[in-house]
Amino acid sequence: MYPLDYIDPVFRPPSEARSLILQVTNGCSWNKCTFCEMYTQAQKRFQPKPIEELEKQLIELSQAQYPVRRVFLADGDAMTLSTRRLKEILQLIYRYYPDVQRVSSYCLPRNLKKKSIEELAELRQLGLSLMYVGCESGDDEVLRRVEKGESFESSLGALKKIKAAGMKSSVMILNGLGGTEFSQQHARNSARLMNAAQPDYLSTLVVSFPVGDDRYQENFNGEFVALNQTQLFTEMQWLLEELQLEKTIFRSDHASNYLVLKGVLGKDKQAMLEQVKLALHQPDRIALRQEWQRGL
Ligand SMILES: C[S@@+](CC[C@H](N)C(=O)[O-])C[C@H]1O[C@@H](n2cnc3c(N)ncnc32)[C@H](O)[C@@H]1O
Ligand code: SF4
Repeated sequence: MYPLDYIDPVFRPPSEARSLILQVTNGCSWNKCTFCEMYTQAQKRFQPKPIEELEKQLIELSQAQYPVRRVFLADGDAMTLSTRRLKEILQLIYRYYPDVQRVSSYCLPRNLKKKSIEELAELRQLGLSLMYVGCESGDDEVLRRVEKGESFESSLGALKKIKAAGMKSSVMILNGLGGTEFSQQHARNSARLMNAAQPDYLSTLVVSFPVGDDRYQENFNGEFVALNQTQLFTEMQWLLEELQLEKTIFRSDHASNYLVLKGVLGKDKQAMLEQVKLALHQPDRIALRQEWQRGL
């Protein structure tokens, strides 16, 4: 771990485990999604970090000869920063680490509203090449109830912009997000969104409520019923069945999942569907994570 002055807690995608996590902002500027408690503690109130502080950190790291090949811009939606500020940050990274191979960030669709494809392409030129987009669902009803502040159309617009700028996208979809009532439409419309967007990477996580589901229940009138293991697998089956992807690396290996799935879609679609069907109908013939092995 790099010895930096973080405001904790800090979250990053699993695939950035070995990257330099540069906390260019603290918290999330939206911070309203009812399932997400990641930045709700008092010290995580949204604020950009001063550029001087970031430069100081990069100087210290480079002087101590910390190797940096990849950089992840934290926290929850660093792409809310202006293009001008993002350019400054990318130029700083390049100044102290000219050999850096990849810079990435979480990105909410709304972060890109005021950024043109040309501006994004400039950021791409400066090294920012991968956006992690928490679409969570392609279903407008579910998105509204979880207060994502996004829709099928806004999510698709952002994913298309990312592609047009020459960047890659990695999308997160949350298994179980609509509960039993909206499970089918959540799966179908999430697949429809992915089919239209053709992201480079897609991962699914299981929604969980480590501090209880009171806040979540409010928009479901207290009637949200979480999916059990079988229902989660059924939802995954619906999602996979509907996915028509050309070349997307699919990962359902986050610690929250009971069943680990990995492959390239469409090539591995049938093989993955077979695994889900095994989990559903012959669970003793397949390795499933036990409850104690799961986490957020
Ligand atoms: C640290 S958040 C930042 C994502 C970014 N702000 C966005 O919305 O695109 C990363 C992801 O964690 C996942 N996440 C957050 N709360 C969760 C929960 N309670 N259960 C499961 N996954 C959760 C969501 O998929 C979210 O997009
Ligand atoms: S999921 Fe993303 S946008 Fe929603 S509150 Fe969490 S960090 Fe913010």
